[in-house]
Amino acid sequence: MMSLTQIVSDVFKKHFGTVPTHLIQAPGRVNLIGEHTDYNDGFVFPCAINYQTVVAAQKRDDNVVRVIAVNYDEASDTFNLSENIEKSDKLWSNYIRGVAQCLRQRGYEFSGADLVISGNVPQGAGLSSSAALEVVIGQTFKALYGLNISQAEIALNGQQAENEYVGCNCGIMDQLISAKGEAGKALLIDCRDLSTQAFSIPDSLAVMIINSNKKRGLVDSEYNTRREQCESAAKQLSVKALRDATLADLQHSSIAPDSDTFKRARHVITENDRTLAMADALKQSDIAKISQLMRESHISMRDDFEITVSEIDFLVETIDQALGETGGVRMTGGGFGGCVVALVPHDKVEEIQQLIADTYQTKTGLKESIYLCQPCAGAGLI
Ligand code: GLA
Repeated sequence: MMSLTQIVSDVFKKHFGTVPTHLIQAPGRVNLIGEHTDYNDGFVFPCAINYQTVVAAQKRDDNVVRVIAVNYDEASDTFNLSENIEKSDKLWSNYIRGVAQCLRQRGYEFSGADLVISGNVPQGAGLSSSAALEVVIGQTFKALYGLNISQAEIALNGQQAENEYVGCNCGIMDQLISAKGEAGKALLIDCRDLSTQAFSIPDSLAVMIINSNKKRGLVDSEYNTRREQCESAAKQLSVKALRDATLADLQHSSIAPDSDTFKRARHVITENDRTLAMADALKQSDIAKISQLMRESHISMRDDFEITVSEIDFLVETIDQALGETGGVRMTGGGFGGCVVALVPHDKVEEIQQLIADTYQTKTGLKESIYLCQPCAGAGLI
């Protein structure tokens, strides 16, 4: 199969007549634990994966940006940096327009570029293909024009573009891990101060992602509702963010124990604790503990945050039964479909693949896709 760099280089040559001066990549991600905690100033534990978005680029000496999207039949978009950059009717191009506009608003100065983009992060699967695109575009302007911008600000800029140009009020996790991932490591991220700590995943475990291929519906609206519910809970608890509340605070508050607000807050508060506990479990290679934390995280997403669907629950239950205490499994990402992440002993990888092949499609009518991943470095020049 042709590599992404080969593809973007060839398409660049075809459309722009020259060899690109720069090749840049940004990865997708999988989150091991810490879901819907990022916008509550809490903790997350993702790693960047070996599925990426790649750009072939070259400066222009005017203010025009021309973009070709290989994954959309080489569709093109053109906009001018010296004008106000309007939203386009093509979703994919709004990510690029948004990133360029937000970079300019932040005071960075740069001129035009010719860009060709391609990627293999599965779209709409909860593996952050959007963040990879936002980050790779920020990284591209950084590389082309030597911008003095940190990786954390590239991430913040990408998040802002997604909030303002795409309309999803996402947190910072996806962009930050795409910008700052480390090879072979998962990062514990404190989403309040954006500090990161790298941890190895035990050598005995493979990172396996199972895509349910369940189309994610109503994702943005459900996501934004969850976020509002969390903010309302924090307000009622008189804390800046749910990160600052304990379970006891919640239990002693006036929030009704059977209300959605209570359940959403309980998920976030307990998930933060589990995410911090994961750091110790990884440090000690305590696989039984990893197993327990991931199981509890899934149950909390299912029953308290209510973001799982039956296909995902089936995958998690099936894999959990087969793994027992030898590995961990849970839904990963925003929810309402998407993927399951499993940490699987190498000698059980085939057995788990077979088990899903034997049961999932019969049960749900959908066929899974499985990706075995390597934790990878974040965005940069290729
Ligand atoms: C999406 C968002 C992230 C995060 C996760 C849930 O991926 O983009 O900011 O909130 O959902 O953990």
